Amino acid sequence: MEVSVLLPAAGLGERLGQGPKAFLKVGGRTLLDWVLDTFSFADEILVALPPGYRLPDRGRVRYLEGGKTRQESVARLLAEANTAMVLVHDVARPFASRALALRVLEKARATGAAVPVLPVPDTLVEAVGGEYGPVLPRERLRLVQTPQGFFTALLREAHAYAKMKGIQATDDAQLVRALGYPVALVEGEVRAFKITYPEDLALAQALVWNA
Ligand code: CTP
Ligand code: MG
Repeated sequence: MEVSVLLPAAGLGERLGQGPKAFLKVGGRTLLDWVLDTFSFADEILVALPPGYRLPDRGRVRYLEGGKTRQESVARLLAEANTAMVLVHDVARPFASRALALRVLEKARATGAAVPVLPVPDTLVEAVGGEYGPVLPRERLRLVQTPQGFFTALLREAHAYAKMKGIQATDDAQLVRALGYPVALVEGEVRAFKITYPEDLALAQALVWNA
């Protein structure tokens, strides 16, 4: 079954403060190039770029203008997808491996929706007025990563439902859950960490993982 990879890359990287992350370089390559390489097995790759940024379509890679939010950027990409399965991946996670993408895709093919997660290594606590509040049960909690895999039709329905209901979410699995469908969990990987703050970029530059 064919797969489209949707890459929301239209964020402005405000917390990092070095412009849109898609064009930041790590190990001599942009984050976008890292991710395009990882997903070169895809039948189609659709990329959402920030308004005003354009790149020429190349082979199976097509560039579109993103939206104001991640969710809107993904919705625009989803509207253009031509395959039965989609993988949605943040360009801000340049070191996610192909093995992870294939693991997620396999589970999504079998179940309709699958996302990679990691256990929480630290103690989790609610901050209450700057003080140590109730401790959360970390054994039950997981950190959610991308790539996330879905039946294209299911994710389209989930996005349409979210739009109708005014639901805003930071990832796509939440929208599928809001629609009432289950989302399977697969084992994530530490190297799929997201570059959000300057420290994350420094870490990425120090690591320059072999793709
Ligand atoms: N993204 C997007 N369209 C938006 C906002 C975000 O496609 N309007 C993408 C980002 O490019 C990134 C992913 O969603 O790949 C996760 O977002 P985040 O890590 O928050 O990146 P930015 O929004 O760029 O960073 P910041 O929130 O610090 O501005
Ligand atoms: Mg953001």
